[in-house]
Amino acid sequence: MDKVKVGILGLGRWGMNHLEAFCSLGQVEVVAVCDKSPEKLELAGQKYRIKQLYSNEDDLILNDDIDLISVVTFESQHLEPTLKALRSGKHVLVEKPVTTRPEEAREMQAAAADSGKLLLPGHLLRFDPRYAAIKEAIQSGKVGTPVSMYMKRARENFLFDTFKRVHTVYELMIHDIDLAIWYAGCRVKKVKAYGRTVSDSSSPEVLWANLEFENGAIAVLHSNWMTPDAAGIEIADAIEVIGQSGTAHFESSLSGLHIWDGGGRLTPDMNIHVNLHGQTIGSLREQLTYICRCIAQGEEPSVISFADAVHGVEVADAIVTSCEKGQEIVLGEAML
Ligand SMILES: NC(=O)c1ccc[n+]([C@@H]2O[C@H](COP(=O)([O-])OP(=O)(O)OC[C@H]3O[C@@H](n4cnc5c(N)ncnc54)[C@H](O)[C@@H]3O)[C@@H](O)[C@H]2O)c1
Repeated sequence: MDKVKVGILGLGRWGMNHLEAFCSLGQVEVVAVCDKSPEKLELAGQKYRIKQLYSNEDDLILNDDIDLISVVTFESQHLEPTLKALRSGKHVLVEKPVTTRPEEAREMQAAAADSGKLLLPGHLLRFDPRYAAIKEAIQSGKVGTPVSMYMKRARENFLFDTFKRVHTVYELMIHDIDLAIWYAGCRVKKVKAYGRTVSDSSSPEVLWANLEFENGAIAVLHSNWMTPDAAGIEIADAIEVIGQSGTAHFESSLSGLHIWDGGGRLTPDMNIHVNLHGQTIGSLREQLTYICRCIAQGEEPSVISFADAVHGVEVADAIVTSCEKGQEIVLGEAML
């Protein structure tokens, strides 16, 4: 395969980042994009010289010139396009959360098995060098098997206006659930979670979850949308993994780069997706590079696991239930 041919469904804030990052990869050609918004299609067509611009998802999904479809639409609406794309013979990258319903995640997994195509969850932190280095340190024995994990994810308050459209567990904490499952290497047995709402939203601005894994490891996950906008800190995340032989940690709010101007201080994201010198850097690019290499070389991905993503949605669902009922939730056995 000379180039992996890509189609992108959804050109919102994150879909445009997919487009920019895919277009900066030498071994990839973005052949078509789809969005309901004519303005976004026009922008993508002009800026990235994409010729096939669709407003109907079926036109994209049925295009036989495409190898891989990125599904970057609203969180709760990934099921249908993912199933249709797999059934029409495409590999699929489905953004996190792969869905907000456990039964849909299992349906996607079964459809991928039937199709023989790759189904790849957009858990890009597995490609952030810091989180990936922690995984390596767990495996090499430097840190060893995790005993205790703490993970914090905090974002600027203004973002909540948009992302309260789904529960905070599906927008933020799902990243840490995926990391915790990856690091522990086994399923979660029990969950107890606490949500606190500052506004009148149905999604909590502050969410804490305690997880107990089948191997006895414990984790505390904390996500919030409470970084004041004026603080100028785009990402205020932290992690500590205590293993049987060592500890790994980092904290990102003092990332080293501060830009001071008349509006105050800005500590920008330099790890997820950044455009510098007309090309992209960051974990999104690393993830897309890896996925396209697997497709081009017919490799089975070992860094990415849809089975882990399915379990992640089960854990997220248990977290929502625990918040609602104020009770500990015991998870069942794997269903597939
Ligand atoms: N991996 C990450 O770190 C990361 C970061 C941000 C967002 N995301 C995920 O990416 C997804 C999209 O988020 P966003 O912030 O870009 O949302 P958004 O609301 O900005 O964009 C969604 C876009 O999808 C389009 N769309 C929806 N349904 C469509 C359909 N059937 N046909 C054509 N177009 C359709 C909308 O018109 C809109 O332009 C979400 O699942 C989100 O959680 C992931």
